Amino acid sequence: MKWQRVHKEKPNTFHSIDWNGFIPKHIAIMMDGNGRWATRRGLPRSAGHYAGMQTMRETISMCHKNGMASLTLYAFSTENWKRPKDEVDYIISLVVEFVQDTTVQELNQNNIKVNFIGDISKFPDETQEAMRKVVELTQTNSGMAVYFAMNYGGKNDIVQAIKTYIVENNEENKETPEISEAEFEKFLYTGLNPAPDLLIRTSGEKRLSNFLLWQAAYSELWFTDVMWPDFNEQLLYESILDYQQRKQRALDDVTQ
Ligand code: FPP
Repeated sequence: MKWQRVHKEKPNTFHSIDWNGFIPKHIAIMMDGNGRWATRRGLPRSAGHYAGMQTMRETISMCHKNGMASLTLYAFSTENWKRPKDEVDYIISLVVEFVQDTTVQELNQNNIKVNFIGDISKFPDETQEAMRKVVELTQTNSGMAVYFAMNYGGKNDIVQAIKTYIVENNEENKETPEISEAEFEKFLYTGLNPAPDLLIRTSGEKRLSNFLLWQAAYSELWFTDVMWPDFNEQLLYESILDYQQRKQRALDDVTQ
């Protein structure tokens, strides 16, 4: 099974990392390039999304085994609705497949807690139901937290947080509501969870594309030309090593 197919022998980069040094506790990933991966192989885009889902499974397992506290995966953006209906339906069907198959039992057995961020009310009822079930099943788990960003957009996140804040604080009569950044943050979909330390984007694109606009304010960004379905353990370690070296350099700069 894919879940167990993480390499037994660690790639060389693993040994270059000081696992007692700076390690990102929270990694966020923009899983980009499924369509191009498929097109380059003469396959339909759906084949790329399917392969992308397998890579996503392996990546969850890799992060779990390497002791990450949180992993946020950009699975469906607010802009993705503009794609052809067939493609949108296929991605949604993958989510249902993912949350209904044995992978979820494995996540649960590994003490992993699953959450969704974004406006999931726009998905079909049975998709929402499947999402709710996996959240419920894993909610008391205390291990790594996995956040699937579904119908997520960073701008939408900020606007919905403002609306929720106003409703909860009944601020309509106040001219300038008193609110600190820390107080505001808890209304974002990500709530009080720590922000990502490292944000990875595959496929050579170097934009945030409306992902975690607020939360990524201080994240280290790491890009690779590799298409998401080909992302692997070696690349994960390269990103961690690069993160560690940047953090160490920053510390050396202030202490020298
Ligand atoms: C970006 O590649 C990828 C997506 C829009 C979908 C990602 C979805 C998955 C990996 C599966 C989701 C499954 C679950 C369970 C959450 P792209 O299509 O934009 O690629 P392109 O830029 O090459 O066209």
